[in-house]
Amino acid sequence: MATFPEVRLRRLRRTEALRSMVRENEVKVADLIYPMFVVEGKGINDEIVSMPDVYRYSPDHLQNAVEEVAKLEIPAIILFGIPEHKDEVGSPGYDSNGIIQQAIRLIKKTVPDLVVITDVCLCEYTSHGHCGVIDHQQVDNDQTLPLLSQMALSHVEAGADMVAPSDMMDGRIKAIRDGLDGKGFTHIPIMSYAAKYSSAYYGPFRDAAESAPQFGDRRAYQMDPPNSREALREVEQDIAEGADIVMVKPALAYMDIIRQVRDNFNHPVAAYNVSGEYSMVKAAAQRGWIDEKRVVMETLTAMKRAGTDMILTYHAKDVAGWLK
Ligand code: PBG
Ligand code: ZN
Repeated sequence: MATFPEVRLRRLRRTEALRSMVRENEVKVADLIYPMFVVEGKGINDEIVSMPDVYRYSPDHLQNAVEEVAKLEIPAIILFGIPEHKDEVGSPGYDSNGIIQQAIRLIKKTVPDLVVITDVCLCEYTSHGHCGVIDHQQVDNDQTLPLLSQMALSHVEAGADMVAPSDMMDGRIKAIRDGLDGKGFTHIPIMSYAAKYSSAYYGPFRDAAESAPQFGDRRAYQMDPPNSREALREVEQDIAEGADIVMVKPALAYMDIIRQVRDNFNHPVAAYNVSGEYSMVKAAAQRGWIDEKRVVMETLTAMKRAGTDMILTYHAKDVAGWLK
C-alpha cells in the first residue's frame, strides 16, 4: 500500500470545490419531515417554552403554518394532536371529528401535495397519559390494538397519506395494516416507530403534547436503551407485519442502531431527531455557546452518514431555509 509522502489525503481537501466532489453524504430538503402540533380551540399560536420556534396551532392558525412549510419545499409533515378533553381509552383520538381529523382535512384543502403523516398513539388522548389501555395498572397490549387500528383508519379516512404508529405495542403494525386494507386503503404506507427507546430525550415533547404519563413510566413498552440486538428484532417483526418504512428513535444517542438497521434490512429507514435533541441545541445556541447552523447541519449529516434515508426534525424549516 502506498503511503506518505506519495499519499497525501489533504490533496482532496484543499478547496471547497474539491471537497464537494468527494463528499459522501449530504442532507437534502427532500429528506426532511417536519413535526407539527395541532391543538383544539381558536386563536392559539403558542410557542412551546422548552422548544423555541416550535408552536402549537389551533386549526385557524394552521393554514399559514403549513403554507410556509410547503413553500420551503419540505415534502412531509408529521402531525400530533392535543385534544380539549381526554378519557381513559383515548376516544378523542379516533373521533372522525377529532382535532387531528379536522387538521388533516384542512391541510389537504390548503396544500394538497404536502405529504401528511400522522402519529398514531393513544398517549395524547388518554387521561392517564399512557400509550394504551390500562388494565390492572398495566398497559394492556391486546386491548389497545383495535383502538390503534381505529385511530389509523380515522386518520386515513380524513385524508392522511401515511400513518406512523409510535405506541410500541406488539402486533400493532399487523392490526393497522389489516384495518386499512379491510377498508380499501391498501395504498397507504405505514412508517413504524420500530426501534423506539424509553428515552429522557422526549421530555420537551411531553410538555408540548401534554402527554406525560400520570403514573409510572413507559419502560414496560418502549425499549430499554442499553439494548441493540433487540432493536433488530423489533424492526424484523414490524417488517414481517407489513411496515413500509422503519424508524429509529431517538437519533443522536442511537446512531449505532441506525447503522445496524441500515446494514441488516433493505427497507427505507427514518430517524427521529427528537425534542430533547432539538432543545439542547437551541438552548446552547441562544446563549451563544455554539454555532447553531453548523451544529445542526453536522448532526443531521451524521444521521445520514449513519444510514438513515429521512429525518424527522424540528429543525426542518431552518435547514430548508439554509439550503435554499
Ligand atoms: C407518542 C410520541 C412521543 C414522541 C413521538 N410520539 C413521546 C413519547 O413516546 O413519550 C416523542 C417525540 C419527541 O420527543 O420529539 N408516543
Ligand atoms: Zn404514546
